[in-house]
Amino acid sequence: MKRLLLTGARGFVAGSVLRQADAQWTVHALSRGDGFVTSRVHWHHFDPRGARELSDLFRTVRPEVVVHTVAVADIDYCETHREEARQVNVELTRALAELCAVHGAKLVFCSTDTIFDGEHAPYREGDTAGPVNFYARTKVEAEQIVAQSGAPAVIARLALVVGLPVFGAGNSFLAKMVAALRAGRAVPMPTNEIRTPIDVLTLGRALLELADGPHTGTFHLAGNESLSRFEMGRRIATRFDLPTQLVVATDPARMPGRARRARDVSLDNAKARVQLSTPMLNLDPALDLVLKCAGDARS
Ligand SMILES: NC(=O)c1ccc[n+]([C@@H]2O[C@H](COP(=O)([O-])OP(=O)(O)OC[C@H]3O[C@@H](n4cnc5c(N)ncnc54)[C@H](OP(=O)(O)O)[C@@H]3O)[C@@H](O)[C@H]2O)c1
Repeated sequence: MKRLLLTGARGFVAGSVLRQADAQWTVHALSRGDGFVTSRVHWHHFDPRGARELSDLFRTVRPEVVVHTVAVADIDYCETHREEARQVNVELTRALAELCAVHGAKLVFCSTDTIFDGEHAPYREGDTAGPVNFYARTKVEAEQIVAQSGAPAVIARLALVVGLPVFGAGNSFLAKMVAALRAGRAVPMPTNEIRTPIDVLTLGRALLELADGPHTGTFHLAGNESLSRFEMGRRIATRFDLPTQLVVATDPARMPGRARRARDVSLDNAKARVQLSTPMLNLDPALDLVLKCAGDARS
Protein backbone atom coordinates (compact mmCIF):
# COMPACT_ATOMS: atom_id res chain seq x y z
CA MET A 1 0.00 0.00 0.00
CA LYS A 2 1.12 3.56 -0.74
CA ARG A 3 1.41 6.03 2.13
CA LEU A 4 -0.50 9.26 1.53
CA LEU A 5 -0.34 12.27 3.83
CA LEU A 6 -3.48 14.37 3.40
CA THR A 7 -3.51 17.87 4.92
CA GLY A 8 -6.68 19.69 5.96
CA ALA A 9 -8.52 16.39 6.17
CA ARG A 10 -11.80 17.87 7.44
CA GLY A 11 -11.93 20.25 4.46
CA PHE A 12 -14.30 20.06 1.50
CA VAL A 13 -11.80 18.86 -1.11
CA ALA A 14 -9.84 16.63 1.30
CA GLY A 15 -13.08 14.87 2.29
CA SER A 16 -13.52 13.74 -1.30
CA VAL A 17 -9.94 12.45 -1.47
CA LEU A 18 -10.42 10.61 1.81
CA ARG A 19 -13.73 9.12 0.69
CA GLN A 20 -12.35 7.88 -2.62
CA ALA A 21 -8.88 6.67 -1.64
CA ASP A 22 -9.12 2.96 -2.40
CA ALA A 23 -7.39 -0.09 -0.97
CA GLN A 24 -4.03 0.78 -2.50
CA TRP A 25 -3.67 3.74 -0.10
CA THR A 26 -2.89 4.08 3.57
CA VAL A 27 -4.04 7.60 4.37
CA HIS A 28 -2.51 9.66 7.16
CA ALA A 29 -5.05 12.44 7.61
CA LEU A 30 -3.85 15.68 9.25
CA SER A 31 -6.41 17.99 10.80
CA ARG A 32 -7.02 20.41 13.61
CA GLY A 33 -10.29 18.58 14.28
CA ASP A 34 -11.58 15.09 14.95
CA GLY A 35 -12.14 12.51 12.23
CA PHE A 36 -12.37 8.78 11.97
CA VAL A 37 -9.97 5.87 11.94
CA THR A 38 -10.17 2.68 9.86
CA SER A 39 -7.63 0.01 9.02
CA ARG A 40 -6.43 2.28 6.19
CA VAL A 41 -7.03 5.76 7.66
CA HIS A 42 -4.88 7.11 10.47
CA TRP A 43 -5.94 10.42 11.97
CA HIS A 44 -3.34 12.88 13.31
CA HIS A 45 -4.23 16.05 15.18
CA PHE A 46 -2.15 18.75 13.61
CA ASP A 47 -1.68 22.47 14.19
CA PRO A 48 -0.32 23.99 10.96
CA ARG A 49 1.92 26.30 13.00
CA GLY A 50 3.92 23.32 14.28
CA ALA A 51 6.81 22.93 11.81
CA ARG A 52 8.65 20.67 14.26
CA GLU A 53 5.59 18.45 14.52
CA LEU A 54 5.56 18.19 10.74
CA SER A 55 9.14 16.95 10.47
CA ASP A 56 8.48 14.36 13.21
CA LEU A 57 5.44 13.24 11.22
CA PHE A 58 7.49 12.83 8.05
CA ARG A 59 9.97 10.67 9.95
CA THR A 60 7.29 8.40 11.42
CA VAL A 61 4.82 8.25 8.50
CA ARG A 62 7.41 8.34 5.66
CA PRO A 63 4.80 9.51 3.12
CA GLU A 64 5.31 8.65 -0.53
CA VAL A 65 2.82 11.33 -1.54
CA VAL A 66 1.46 14.44 0.15
CA VAL A 67 -1.85 15.92 -1.02
CA HIS A 68 -1.82 19.42 0.42
CA THR A 69 -5.26 20.99 0.61
CA VAL A 70 -4.90 23.24 3.68
CA ALA A 71 -5.54 26.88 2.97
CA VAL A 72 -7.35 29.84 4.35
CA ALA A 73 -9.59 29.65 1.30
CA ASP A 74 -12.17 32.33 2.10
CA ILE A 75 -11.19 35.15 -0.24
CA ASP A 76 -12.89 37.88 1.78
CA TYR A 77 -11.44 36.63 5.08
CA CYS A 78 -7.93 36.54 3.57
CA GLU A 79 -8.19 40.19 2.62
CA THR A 80 -8.64 41.24 6.25
CA HIS A 81 -6.52 38.51 7.94
CA ARG A 82 -3.38 38.73 5.85
CA GLU A 83 -0.83 37.49 8.35
CA GLU A 84 -2.87 34.36 9.10
CA ALA A 85 -3.48 33.76 5.39
CA ARG A 86 0.22 34.13 4.61
CA GLN A 87 1.29 31.82 7.44
CA VAL A 88 -1.09 29.08 6.37
CA ASN A 89 -1.14 29.44 2.59
CA VAL A 90 2.52 30.26 2.02
CA GLU A 91 4.63 29.24 5.01
CA LEU A 92 2.98 25.87 5.63
CA THR A 93 3.34 25.09 1.92
CA ARG A 94 7.02 26.05 2.13
CA ALA A 95 7.59 23.73 5.10
CA LEU A 96 5.85 20.85 3.33
CA ALA A 97 7.66 21.40 0.04
CA GLU A 98 11.04 21.42 1.84
CA LEU A 99 10.20 18.20 3.68
CA CYS A 100 8.98 16.55 0.45
CA ALA A 101 12.26 17.52 -1.25
CA VAL A 102 14.34 16.09 1.62
CA HIS A 103 12.33 12.85 1.88
CA GLY A 104 11.74 12.39 -1.87
CA ALA A 105 7.95 12.47 -1.41
CA LYS A 106 5.72 13.68 -4.22
CA LEU A 107 3.74 16.84 -3.43
CA VAL A 108 0.31 17.49 -4.95
CA PHE A 109 -0.46 21.10 -4.11
CA CYS A 110 -3.97 22.57 -4.46
CA SER A 111 -3.86 25.98 -6.10
CA THR A 112 -6.68 27.95 -7.67
CA ASP A 113 -8.14 29.37 -10.90
CA THR A 114 -8.23 32.75 -9.17
CA ILE A 115 -4.48 33.28 -9.59
CA PHE A 116 -5.39 34.72 -13.03
CA ASP A 117 -6.43 38.32 -13.74
CA GLY A 118 -9.73 37.35 -15.36
CA GLU A 119 -9.24 39.30 -18.59
CA HIS A 120 -7.64 36.64 -20.83
CA ALA A 121 -9.67 33.45 -20.36
CA PRO A 122 -9.61 30.57 -21.03
CA TYR A 123 -6.30 30.10 -19.23
CA ARG A 124 -3.82 27.34 -20.02
CA GLU A 125 -1.21 25.96 -17.62
CA GLY A 126 1.63 28.11 -19.01
CA ASP A 127 -0.25 31.42 -18.85
CA THR A 128 0.99 34.21 -16.61
CA ALA A 129 -0.61 34.73 -13.21
CA GLY A 130 -2.16 38.11 -12.37
CA PRO A 131 -3.69 37.91 -8.90
CA VAL A 132 -6.29 40.55 -8.04
CA ASN A 133 -6.74 39.79 -4.33
CA PHE A 134 -4.60 38.75 -1.37
CA TYR A 135 -5.74 35.10 -1.34
CA ALA A 136 -4.63 34.74 -4.96
CA ARG A 137 -1.29 36.40 -4.18
CA THR A 138 -0.61 33.84 -1.44
CA LYS A 139 -1.38 31.04 -3.89
CA VAL A 140 0.94 32.44 -6.56
CA GLU A 141 3.73 32.68 -4.00
CA ALA A 142 3.04 29.14 -2.80
CA GLU A 143 3.07 27.83 -6.40
CA GLN A 144 6.50 29.39 -6.94
CA ILE A 145 7.82 27.81 -3.75
CA VAL A 146 6.52 24.37 -4.78
CA ALA A 147 7.92 24.69 -8.31
CA GLN A 148 11.37 25.68 -7.01
CA SER A 149 11.50 23.25 -4.08
CA GLY A 150 13.16 20.38 -5.91
CA ALA A 151 10.40 18.01 -4.76
CA PRO A 152 8.60 15.95 -7.40
CA ALA A 153 5.45 18.04 -7.52
CA VAL A 154 2.10 18.64 -9.15
CA ILE A 155 0.48 22.06 -8.95
CA ALA A 156 -3.22 21.36 -9.37
CA ARG A 157 -5.13 24.55 -10.13
CA LEU A 158 -8.71 23.92 -9.12
CA ALA A 159 -11.67 25.68 -10.64
CA LEU A 160 -14.66 26.51 -8.46
CA VAL A 161 -15.64 23.29 -6.71
CA VAL A 162 -19.27 22.17 -6.48
CA GLY A 163 -20.50 19.42 -4.22
CA LEU A 164 -21.49 18.40 -0.74
CA PRO A 165 -18.84 18.09 1.96
CA VAL A 166 -18.12 14.91 3.91
CA PHE A 167 -17.49 16.88 7.14
CA GLY A 168 -19.45 19.95 8.28
CA ALA A 169 -20.12 22.76 5.81
CA GLY A 170 -16.51 23.06 4.55
CA ASN A 171 -15.92 25.60 1.85
CA SER A 172 -18.87 24.44 -0.27
CA PHE A 173 -20.98 27.24 -1.72
CA LEU A 174 -23.40 24.65 -3.11
CA ALA A 175 -24.17 23.29 0.39
CA LYS A 176 -24.82 26.80 1.72
CA MET A 177 -26.88 27.72 -1.33
CA VAL A 178 -29.04 24.59 -1.19
CA ALA A 179 -29.64 25.12 2.57
CA ALA A 180 -30.71 28.74 1.93
CA LEU A 181 -33.04 27.78 -0.94
CA ARG A 182 -34.59 24.98 1.14
CA ALA A 183 -35.25 27.57 3.87
CA GLY A 184 -36.92 29.83 1.27
CA ARG A 185 -34.18 32.47 1.37
CA ALA A 186 -32.99 34.33 -1.73
CA VAL A 187 -29.41 33.69 -2.84
CA PRO A 188 -27.59 36.55 -4.58
CA MET A 189 -25.27 35.30 -7.34
CA PRO A 190 -22.93 37.49 -9.41
CA THR A 191 -23.60 37.63 -13.15
CA ASN A 192 -20.14 38.84 -14.08
CA GLU A 193 -17.93 36.24 -12.37
CA ILE A 194 -17.29 33.38 -14.77
CA ARG A 195 -15.81 30.01 -13.81
CA THR A 196 -15.46 26.45 -15.09
CA PRO A 197 -16.91 24.50 -12.14
CA ILE A 198 -15.73 21.00 -11.29
CA ASP A 199 -17.57 18.63 -8.97
CA VAL A 200 -15.81 17.56 -5.81
CA LEU A 201 -15.98 13.84 -6.67
CA THR A 202 -14.29 14.19 -10.05
CA LEU A 203 -11.76 16.46 -8.37
CA GLY A 204 -10.99 13.93 -5.62
CA ARG A 205 -10.49 11.21 -8.23
CA ALA A 206 -8.24 13.43 -10.34
CA LEU A 207 -6.11 14.40 -7.32
CA LEU A 208 -5.68 10.72 -6.43
CA GLU A 209 -4.75 9.93 -10.04
CA LEU A 210 -2.17 12.73 -9.99
CA ALA A 211 -0.90 11.46 -6.64
CA ASP A 212 -0.54 7.92 -7.93
CA GLY A 213 0.82 8.47 -11.42
CA PRO A 214 4.10 9.75 -12.84
CA HIS A 215 2.67 13.22 -13.52
CA THR A 216 4.53 16.34 -12.44
CA GLY A 217 4.02 20.00 -13.34
CA THR A 218 0.87 22.10 -13.48
CA PHE A 219 -2.61 20.78 -14.25
CA HIS A 220 -5.90 22.63 -14.61
CA LEU A 221 -8.67 20.60 -12.98
CA ALA A 222 -11.88 22.14 -14.24
CA GLY A 223 -15.21 21.29 -15.80
CA ASN A 224 -15.88 21.67 -19.51
CA GLU A 225 -18.30 24.61 -19.30
CA SER A 226 -17.75 28.33 -18.61
CA LEU A 227 -20.64 29.72 -16.61
CA SER A 228 -21.40 32.82 -14.58
CA ARG A 229 -22.06 32.12 -10.92
CA PHE A 230 -25.64 33.22 -11.53
CA GLU A 231 -26.14 30.68 -14.36
CA MET A 232 -24.48 28.05 -12.19
CA GLY A 233 -26.85 28.87 -9.31
CA ARG A 234 -29.88 28.53 -11.57
CA ARG A 235 -28.68 25.20 -12.99
CA ILE A 236 -27.99 23.86 -9.50
CA ALA A 237 -31.41 24.98 -8.23
CA THR A 238 -33.09 23.26 -11.20
CA ARG A 239 -31.15 20.04 -10.69
CA PHE A 240 -31.89 19.99 -6.94
CA ASP A 241 -35.57 20.74 -7.65
CA LEU A 242 -35.44 24.01 -5.73
CA PRO A 243 -37.01 27.38 -6.65
CA THR A 244 -34.84 28.97 -9.34
CA GLN A 245 -36.47 32.39 -8.82
CA LEU A 246 -34.72 32.58 -5.43
CA VAL A 247 -31.38 32.66 -7.23
CA VAL A 248 -31.06 36.38 -7.81
CA ALA A 249 -28.71 38.08 -10.27
CA THR A 250 -26.38 40.43 -8.39
CA ASP A 251 -23.67 42.91 -9.14
CA PRO A 252 -20.78 41.95 -6.80
CA ALA A 253 -19.91 45.63 -6.40
CA ARG A 254 -23.10 45.81 -4.34
CA MET A 255 -22.14 42.91 -2.06
CA PRO A 256 -20.66 44.53 1.08
CA GLY A 257 -17.29 43.26 2.31
CA ARG A 258 -16.63 41.32 -0.87
CA ALA A 259 -12.97 41.39 -1.94
CA ARG A 260 -12.16 42.03 -5.57
CA ARG A 261 -12.68 39.03 -7.86
CA ALA A 262 -11.33 38.43 -11.34
CA ARG A 263 -14.07 38.56 -13.99
CA ASP A 264 -13.53 35.36 -16.00
CA VAL A 265 -11.05 32.79 -14.70
CA SER A 266 -12.23 29.93 -16.92
CA LEU A 267 -9.55 27.23 -17.11
CA ASP A 268 -8.67 25.33 -20.25
CA ASN A 269 -8.71 21.69 -19.08
CA ALA A 270 -7.32 20.14 -22.31
CA LYS A 271 -4.17 18.83 -20.60
CA ALA A 272 -6.17 17.05 -17.89
CA ARG A 273 -8.55 15.63 -20.51
CA VAL A 274 -5.63 14.19 -22.49
CA GLN A 275 -3.36 13.03 -19.67
CA LEU A 276 -5.81 11.82 -17.01
CA SER A 277 -8.22 8.92 -17.21
CA THR A 278 -10.60 10.76 -14.85
CA PRO A 279 -13.09 12.43 -17.20
CA MET A 280 -13.66 16.18 -16.85
CA LEU A 281 -17.42 16.84 -16.99
CA ASN A 282 -20.07 19.33 -18.01
CA LEU A 283 -22.07 20.77 -15.09
CA ASP A 284 -25.18 18.58 -15.38
CA PRO A 285 -23.41 15.19 -15.24
CA ALA A 286 -21.22 16.65 -12.48
CA LEU A 287 -24.36 17.49 -10.46
CA ASP A 288 -25.70 13.99 -11.17
CA LEU A 289 -22.58 12.59 -9.49
CA VAL A 290 -23.01 14.92 -6.51
CA LEU A 291 -26.67 13.88 -6.09
CA LYS A 292 -25.87 10.19 -6.49
CA CYS A 293 -23.17 10.41 -3.86
CA ALA A 294 -25.55 12.23 -1.46
CA GLY A 295 -28.13 9.48 -2.06
CA ASP A 296 -25.55 6.73 -1.48
CA ALA A 297 -24.44 8.41 1.78
CA ARG A 298 -28.07 8.50 3.03
CA SER A 299 -28.89 4.87 2.14
N1 LIG B 1 -13.54 25.11 -2.82
C1 LIG B 1 -13.19 25.70 -3.95
O1 LIG B 1 -14.06 26.10 -4.74
C2 LIG B 1 -11.72 25.85 -4.32
C3 LIG B 1 -11.43 26.42 -5.57
C4 LIG B 1 -10.08 26.57 -5.93
C5 LIG B 1 -9.08 26.17 -5.09
N2 LIG B 1 -9.39 25.64 -3.86
C6 LIG B 1 -8.27 25.22 -3.01
O2 LIG B 1 -8.48 23.87 -2.64
C7 LIG B 1 -7.97 23.61 -1.34
C8 LIG B 1 -9.05 22.99 -0.49
O3 LIG B 1 -10.12 23.93 -0.38
P1 LIG B 1 -11.49 23.55 0.33
O4 LIG B 1 -12.56 24.09 -0.50
O5 LIG B 1 -11.49 22.10 0.69
O6 LIG B 1 -11.37 24.45 1.65
P2 LIG B 1 -11.84 24.13 3.13
O7 LIG B 1 -13.07 23.30 3.15
O8 LIG B 1 -11.87 25.46 3.85
O9 LIG B 1 -10.65 23.23 3.67
C9 LIG B 1 -9.37 23.74 3.93
C10 LIG B 1 -8.85 23.15 5.20
O10 LIG B 1 -7.66 23.87 5.56
C11 LIG B 1 -7.56 23.93 6.97
N3 LIG B 1 -7.56 25.34 7.39
C12 LIG B 1 -8.41 26.32 7.01
N4 LIG B 1 -8.14 27.48 7.65
C13 LIG B 1 -7.09 27.22 8.45
C14 LIG B 1 -6.35 28.00 9.37
N5 LIG B 1 -6.61 29.29 9.58
N6 LIG B 1 -5.35 27.41 10.05
C15 LIG B 1 -5.08 26.11 9.81
N7 LIG B 1 -5.73 25.31 8.96
C16 LIG B 1 -6.73 25.86 8.29
C17 LIG B 1 -8.78 23.22 7.54
O11 LIG B 1 -8.44 21.86 7.77
P3 LIG B 1 -8.78 21.10 9.15
O12 LIG B 1 -10.09 21.66 9.63
O13 LIG B 1 -8.87 19.67 8.78
O14 LIG B 1 -7.65 21.39 10.08
C18 LIG B 1 -9.78 23.30 6.42
O15 LIG B 1 -10.74 22.30 6.51
C19 LIG B 1 -7.46 24.94 -0.82
O16 LIG B 1 -6.07 24.98 -1.00
C20 LIG B 1 -8.15 25.97 -1.69
O17 LIG B 1 -7.38 27.13 -1.80
C21 LIG B 1 -10.70 25.46 -3.46
